[in-house]
Amino acid sequence: MLVYNQEELVRFVEEAKQYARYGKVADYIPALGKADPNELSIAIYTPDGRVVDAGDVTVKVTLQSISKIIALALVLIDRGEDEVFHKVGMEPTDYPFHSIAKLEEKPAKPLNPMINAGALVVTSMIQGSSVSERLERLLAFVRRLAGNECISYSDEVARSEFETAFLNRSLCYFLKQHRIIDEDVEELMELYTKQCAIEMTCIDLARIGFVLALDGRDPHSSEPLMPLDVARICKTFMVTCGMYNSSGEFAIKVGIPAKSGVSGGILAAVPGRCGIGVFGPALDDKGNSLTGVKLLERLSKTYSLSIF
Ligand code: DON
Repeated sequence: MLVYNQEELVRFVEEAKQYARYGKVADYIPALGKADPNELSIAIYTPDGRVVDAGDVTVKVTLQSISKIIALALVLIDRGEDEVFHKVGMEPTDYPFHSIAKLEEKPAKPLNPMINAGALVVTSMIQGSSVSERLERLLAFVRRLAGNECISYSDEVARSEFETAFLNRSLCYFLKQHRIIDEDVEELMELYTKQCAIEMTCIDLARIGFVLALDGRDPHSSEPLMPLDVARICKTFMVTCGMYNSSGEFAIKVGIPAKSGVSGGILAAVPGRCGIGVFGPALDDKGNSLTGVKLLERLSKTYSLSIF
């Protein structure tokens, strides 16, 4: 078993922070624009139940696109692969995460569940009779995965995105025109923006990463929190699409299944070995945490974490 060294981790964080000046905090969701680009923290959840961390891991991070992988797991459990993949594809794309361009090509089915169009379709499949019931089901699942009953969402961030999400609304209307979704767009936007605003610490992120790393099992009780096949599908998407149109480069340089969010969060799962949560709001031009990716690159090289 690997022994992650806390002092070394602190040093890696300081090194990676030097790159913050090349990144930019997301501001298309106004509430995220307040983040400090120089912030960088990491938690590693290890098989012996220990957490090794560096930086301020008490800071709460909104999941943003990281939520897409959790929502996908939930709808796969609820509805099964056939129904989900009838509406959303399995292929990566070199288009940005919010692009509408590919939807114009027949049959208007989003390429994968990690880009916004695909994620909106997945969110529309979360079961329940009202937005609040569907959100509660998702939150209950998130809390189980993180082993933390206190997890909720940031009303400020959800509201801020809801009021400005014109591009996502356009994707929804496009999908509705082509009968990929049929629900009310404002309701879907309310659920999606609250889903993206679910907030947790790097330690929670690391624990969810470790559940995926353990093929869906609870790190303490070994109870299955999701079926093995669902965990396998999630990790596969994390490799092929989790870092958007940087997923290839990330696979080569880091080689760990991971999912990023524009808040600067990254959730990573090193199969059988550990879960990792990172928070660094300075983003690169693809919307991934620039400092977070640098940090993971260093970690992967030092501890030989690449799965390839
Ligand atoms: O839908 C959006 O644009 C955001 N709520 C989430 C996008 C995101 O996190 C992309 N990730 N790197």
